[in-house]
Amino acid sequence: MLRACLGAAFLVAVHAGSAWADQDWVPPVTDPATLKECGECHMAFQPAFLPARSWDKMMDTLDDHFGDNASLPADTTAAIRAYLTANAGDVRPQGLARSFMAWVEPGGAPQRLTENPDFRREHRKITAQKLQRSGALSIVNCPACHQGADRGWYDDD
Ligand code: HEC
Ligand code: HEC
Repeated sequence: MLRACLGAAFLVAVHAGSAWADQDWVPPVTDPATLKECGECHMAFQPAFLPARSWDKMMDTLDDHFGDNASLPADTTAAIRAYLTANAGDVRPQGLARSFMAWVEPGGAPQRLTENPDFRREHRKITAQKLQRSGALSIVNCPACHQGADRGWYDDD
């Protein structure tokens, strides 16, 4: 973490020229329907965090989405599915997606990006107590700790 802080000023300059090559970044969500419908209960997670199979499975099972009913009209579901799968981590492996896809087994369709061992390692110091104290409450509340989360930036700790 210390190294990340020391490197921050330098990285800002580098980012201006080559954001694509950066490891702390994923392409932000640009599709309005995805931002609206998938940003209602939590941040609209960037599609690069999961492979296309994961998004397909999720869009097939929105009526039982982690215990919630997140169903949408068929045309909206199809449009969001097309966006998420076209920009999935295994389809457009940019920034963080390159390393984050390494854990996905061939044919696997994980539903939680927070189960990624890379993700867990980065967040290993975040306890339930810290989540309460910070007001984030759940680890899925990315913007509570990452101010640039909606723009795909996760280096601002
Ligand atoms: C009605 C509320 C609701 C809507 C709408 C909703 N979700 Fe969720 N989503 C949840 C809940 C609840 C969880 C589990 C949160 C937790 O574990 O704390 C979740 C979790 C997730 C996760 C896993 C997060 C993790 O742990 O890595 C993904 C990915 C996700 N949602 C994607 C979507 C997508 C894509 C859409 C739009 C099609 C969507 N969600 C719409 C309620 C919703
Ligand atoms: C309670 C605060 C908190 C929440 C909530 C949280 N993070 Fe983090 N995250 C951190 C901290 C702190 C670090 C830095 C760990 C380190 O450098 O040792 C980090 C690191 C990361 C990194 C690694 C960045 C790098 O430099 O490589 C990524 C990617 C990331 N978080 C994504 C997410 C996503 C996506 C979510 C939501 C699903 C999330 N985080 C939720 C606090 C949080």
